[in-house]
Amino acid sequence: MSVLVITGTGTEVGKTVVVAALAALAVADGRRVAVLKPAQTGIAADEPGDLSEVIRLAGPVTTRELRRYPDPLAPATAARRSGRPTVHPSEMAAAAVDLDRTHDLVLVEGAGGLLVRFDDEGTTIADAAWALNAPVLVVAHAGLGTLNMTALTAEALLHRGLESVGVVVGRWPAEPDLAARCNLVDLPEAAGGPLLGVLPDGAARLSRADFLDTARAALSPWFGGTFDPEKFAAPHTC
Ligand SMILES: Nc1ncnc2c1ncn2[C@@H]1O[C@H](COP(=O)(O)OP(=O)(O)OP(=O)(O)O)[C@@H](O)[C@H]1O
Ligand SMILES: [Mg+2]
Repeated sequence: MSVLVITGTGTEVGKTVVVAALAALAVADGRRVAVLKPAQTGIAADEPGDLSEVIRLAGPVTTRELRRYPDPLAPATAARRSGRPTVHPSEMAAAAVDLDRTHDLVLVEGAGGLLVRFDDEGTTIADAAWALNAPVLVVAHAGLGTLNMTALTAEALLHRGLESVGVVVGRWPAEPDLAARCNLVDLPEAAGGPLLGVLPDGAARLSRADFLDTARAALSPWFGGTFDPEKFAAPHTC
């Protein structure tokens, strides 16, 4: 089974853009890709959500969204307020397994960070990863504060017996400050895994063709890219 769960150190860290980059590389490699978003919040029924963004950047991959809630809140809270049903990790896992039957790579994007609740029992995307026995990729901010949030996420993964494959920086500033530059050295330690990519600021605004080139340069060979963390860090003195 080739399912990868993408979580982040919080909301708006660039999970969707990283999912799109992973999808773009896999599609370019001729692989059949599916992206699953168990719960999309903060978007009205007729508005484009994260999955539309993935298709815009990566091309026509299979997408599946299980629930949508209008309020920009954690899925459990948004579900409660909307009166709509929650989505259980067993349903997320079943959807991923179903997609896995007909695709070579299934990417599952959580909502916000790892321990965001999907229902009032307190289930999280970590429970879905556990049910799927799937590895987890952590997307993190570049700057000050990211080491703590990344370490907390890594510790929570370890505590749950989940495999963390490493960390990707979702948005690397054009002019990185001292904290961002030094984080290149310290993020792998905080994540308990390698730095598997750094997406440059502006990546989300590129055309599909340019986004593919950027994704290739920004993601590790582990994902089909050419990113080398040591080469990337070399000019960024700390
Ligand atoms: N590398 C980048 N370059 C330019 N814009 C970016 C980049 N990464 C993220 N963004 C922008 O920042 C915002 C948040 O990114 P994104 O939607 O990927 O975050 P997320 O972690 O998926 O958030 P959510 O928790 O809501 O799903 C979006 O408007 C996105 O276009
Ligand atoms: Mg997203």
